[in-house]
Amino acid sequence: MEPKTSHPSELSSSLSKQSADEQNVYSQEFMDLLSTLPKEINSSFGADLYQYNGFWYHIAPLHGMIECLKHFQPRKNDVFLVTAPKSGTTWLKAIIYTLLNRRVHHPQDSDHPLLTKTPHQLVPFILLLKPSDYDSVSNSSDSSTRIFGSHVPTVSLPTSVMEDSDSFNCKIVYLCRDIKDTFVSFFHFENKNVDLSSNSLERAFDLYSRGVSVGGPVWDQIMGYWKESLERPNKVLFIRYEDMKTNPHFQLSRLALFLGKAFSEEEQNSGMLDQILSLCSFDNIKNLEVNKSGMSGLGTGIKNDTLYRSGKVGDWKNTLTAEMASKLDLITEEKFRGSGLSL
Ligand code: A3P
Repeated sequence: MEPKTSHPSELSSSLSKQSADEQNVYSQEFMDLLSTLPKEINSSFGADLYQYNGFWYHIAPLHGMIECLKHFQPRKNDVFLVTAPKSGTTWLKAIIYTLLNRRVHHPQDSDHPLLTKTPHQLVPFILLLKPSDYDSVSNSSDSSTRIFGSHVPTVSLPTSVMEDSDSFNCKIVYLCRDIKDTFVSFFHFENKNVDLSSNSLERAFDLYSRGVSVGGPVWDQIMGYWKESLERPNKVLFIRYEDMKTNPHFQLSRLALFLGKAFSEEEQNSGMLDQILSLCSFDNIKNLEVNKSGMSGLGTGIKNDTLYRSGKVGDWKNTLTAEMASKLDLITEEKFRGSGLSL
C-alpha cells in the first residue's frame, strides 16, 4: 500500500481539499479500505471522520497511522506523549522537551529553542510525518530518544512501542483532562479555526457524547491507557491535566523519574523545576511571539494562537448547560465504573 504522496496531519491536514485530492494522494488499496469503514459525514473541522478498529479519525491521520503501523522502527528510549485532542498536549510537549534537554538547553537560556519554535515544531505528531522522516527527528540530547506526540488509542500504537525488548523500551506518557473541559476546549478551537456556520454547540455536543471525536470515543481512549498504566507502570505514565495545574512540582518530578531523568539534589536546590515550569507556563508560552502568530502546521487553517485559550480547570461552566454537563458526567461515570479512575 504505497502512497503516491503523503503529508498527513494528526488533526486535520488538507481537510478542506479532502474530497478533491483523495484519489491523487492515497493508494487504491487505502481508498478501498476507506470505502469499507463506518463514516460520520462533516463531523469534525468540517470533514468526515472514519471509524477504524473502534476509533474515529480524519482521513489523513488514518492514512498516517496505517503507514506508522507498517514502518515505524523504535529507538531504545523513544517517548510517546499521547492525549485526546485538547487535553493539554501543547503544554506537555513543551515540558517533556524542556525536561529531556535541560542539560544542553538550560530553561533560562536566552536562546532556548522554545523561545523561537512552537512546542509542535519541537515535538512532532508522528502521524504528521512521512515514514521516511521518522529517522530525522532529533529532539532530545540523547540520540536513543525521540519525542513524538499522538492522539491514537493503545490499539493503534505500533506493537514495538507497546512491547519491551532488550533493544528497545519506549515510554508512553498519557495526559488526560476532565471530559467537559476537553470538549469545551475542542468546541472553541474548532470554531476559531474553521468557519462552520452550522456548527452549533448542540451538534458538536451530540457528536462528542456519541464518541465521535478524533481518536475517540474519548472515554475508551483514556481507559485503554489507564489500564496499561496500572498493569505496566514503568511503561505508561498516566497524568491528569488538573494534577499538573494543582501540583506541578510533584508531577514534573514524577515525569522525570519515569523518563529515567530524575532531578538531582543540586538541580532541585538550584530551582530547576521552577525554571522548567515557568518557561512552559501558560502565560509565558502564550505570549511568546512565535506562538502568537502564524500557522501551526497541524492542519489546514489551524493558527498557533488558537492553541492557547483560557488554560483553566473548570472553564466548561462558561459554555455548557447544566444538562450537557450532567450528561457527560453520567457517561464518564458509567464508562469508568469499577476502574478506579475518576476525572
Ligand atoms: P482551553 O481551551 O481550556 O484553554 P491541546 O494542547 O491538547 O490542544 O490542549 C489545548 C488546551 O490546553 C487549551 O485549553 C489551552 O489553553 C491549554 N493550554 C495550552 N498551553 C497550556 C499551558 N502552558 N498550561 C496550561 N494549559 C495550557
